[in-house]
Amino acid sequence: MRSDFLSFLLVLGLVWNSLVLFCNGGITSKFVRKVEKSIDMPLHSDVFRVPPGHNAPQQVHITQGDVEGKAVIVSWVTQEAPGSNTVHYWKEHSSTKHKAHGKTNTYKFYNYTSGYIHHCTIRNLEYDSKYYYVVGVGQTERKFWFFTPPKVGPDVPYTFGLIGDLGQTFDSNITLTHYEKSPKKGQAVLFVGDLSYADNYPNHDNNRWDSWGRFAERSTAYQPWIWTTGNHELDFAPEIGENKPFKPFTHRYRTPYRASGSTEPFWYSIKRGPAYIIVLSSYSAYGKYTPQYTWLEEEFPKVNRTETPWLIVLNHSPWYNSYDYHYMEGESMRVMYEPWFVKNKVDVVFSGHVHAYERSERVSNIAYTVVNGICSPVKDQSAPVYITIGDGGNIEGLATKMTEPQPKYSAYREASFGHAILSIKNRTHAHYGWHRNQDGYAVEADTMWFYNRFWHPVDDSPSFDS
Ligand SMILES: *[C@@H]1O[C@H](CO)[C@@H](O)[C@H](O)[C@H]1NC(C)=O
Ligand SMILES: *[C@@H]1O[C@H](CO)[C@@H](O)[C@H](O)[C@H]1NC(C)=O
Ligand SMILES: *[C@@H]1O[C@H](CO)[C@@H](O)[C@H](O)[C@H]1NC(C)=O
Ligand SMILES: *[C@@H]1O[C@H](CO)[C@@H](O)[C@H](O)[C@H]1NC(C)=O
Ligand SMILES: [Fe+2]
Repeated sequence: MRSDFLSFLLVLGLVWNSLVLFCNGGITSKFVRKVEKSIDMPLHSDVFRVPPGHNAPQQVHITQGDVEGKAVIVSWVTQEAPGSNTVHYWKEHSSTKHKAHGKTNTYKFYNYTSGYIHHCTIRNLEYDSKYYYVVGVGQTERKFWFFTPPKVGPDVPYTFGLIGDLGQTFDSNITLTHYEKSPKKGQAVLFVGDLSYADNYPNHDNNRWDSWGRFAERSTAYQPWIWTTGNHELDFAPEIGENKPFKPFTHRYRTPYRASGSTEPFWYSIKRGPAYIIVLSSYSAYGKYTPQYTWLEEEFPKVNRTETPWLIVLNHSPWYNSYDYHYMEGESMRVMYEPWFVKNKVDVVFSGHVHAYERSERVSNIAYTVVNGICSPVKDQSAPVYITIGDGGNIEGLATKMTEPQPKYSAYREASFGHAILSIKNRTHAHYGWHRNQDGYAVEADTMWFYNRFWHPVDDSPSFDS
């Protein structure tokens, strides 16, 4: 009797839920977490340990070094002296050892002086292979490895991790651990901006750029992280005489921008396996006639969906965001570029900036002119899904306040820290899952099967299914 009543309540609850779903937008998760302050790990933490030995290479990180995935840029820092510029590398099971020589730079920021920052591009790698590489000399040699991607092509599976706004708090460490331990095994990280949050410290204490480099090394040394710049990379501080934007970032991190015809490191494109990835800069000029605009306009015709079916865009400031935090900040860039995204059938756009998670419906809002007043997002099967994944866990904490009611364009939103994984299976299907930090490593809190917009452009919205 009692259990009948309970199941009646349950059914009532489900009906009520689906009613709410129709009236509002999508799902606002009811997941309850402890809201605690996110605090930076102290400098003496294990994750920030300096590798042993005089002048040992530290902060080792790699990224793709060309358009096709046959080159890798290896970067590291030596603190006391320039040391060696050479990377020794070889393919697994091969007795042929190669070496490449890089370049070293240093920079000053207010009263901080950097260590010796090395960048070395290794080229002509074979696809789909494991390579070992060594940096440092003698007692301080350090050995790492990475896998090159498969040859660019439409049906090669490939798995990307998605992380944003990471910072260096205890929560950041949990996010990175969940990514590493995920049974889905991400092969490269698409990072959507805001790395170290050093600028939260007095005078942007650049020692926190160094500590971040050491913290992230356990992943960045072994798989490429594809960098997007966020507002925390600007480090624009005229009050202390630092008026060149992106100074620490550009000295420490490299992107293969010249290979894709870009003129600045902040916007560029790569192909990796089945994906064509366009990285945009929310904090560089993007209006008509600007270098970024001109570059992007010429970029879309280069995308060949027979070669790379999946068209993915990364930027920092989201265009479809229903949190109070940073609400509408991405609007001017959306107005500039959204028609191109719809025309060229971008599959998915990943952004950060808002410290929470959100996935949109496939919507567009491009009908408006100054006189017609048509300015509401509408469902559009040529439009991308917009995902905000700024939930890496930085010192600024979670964005918990949302606009109410949930707009129709918002399919799922939740203020929890986490990361996501996009597993491309073939030219038509990709599985996507968002992982919150409170769950077990294998648990997906939000999932979606993406159907490719070029090869299989039917409605793939999970809320459409249900
Ligand atoms: C830089 O300046 C700050 C305060 O102005 C001071 O606390 C810090 O010790 C200085 N660092 C160096 C390396 O001089
Ligand atoms: C960070 O996470 C790693 C892996 O789980 C753990 O070994 C380490 O102790 C953590 N460090 C801190 C400061 O939380
Ligand atoms: C697109 O890529 C396919 C497969 O690599 C190739 O056969 C075709 O010629 C390309 N199309 C153009 C217009 O370059
Ligand atoms: C593509 O992958 C999906 C999901 O794994 C699968 O159902 C589908 O059959 C695959 N398509 C082809 C042509 O293999
Ligand atoms: Fe940001």
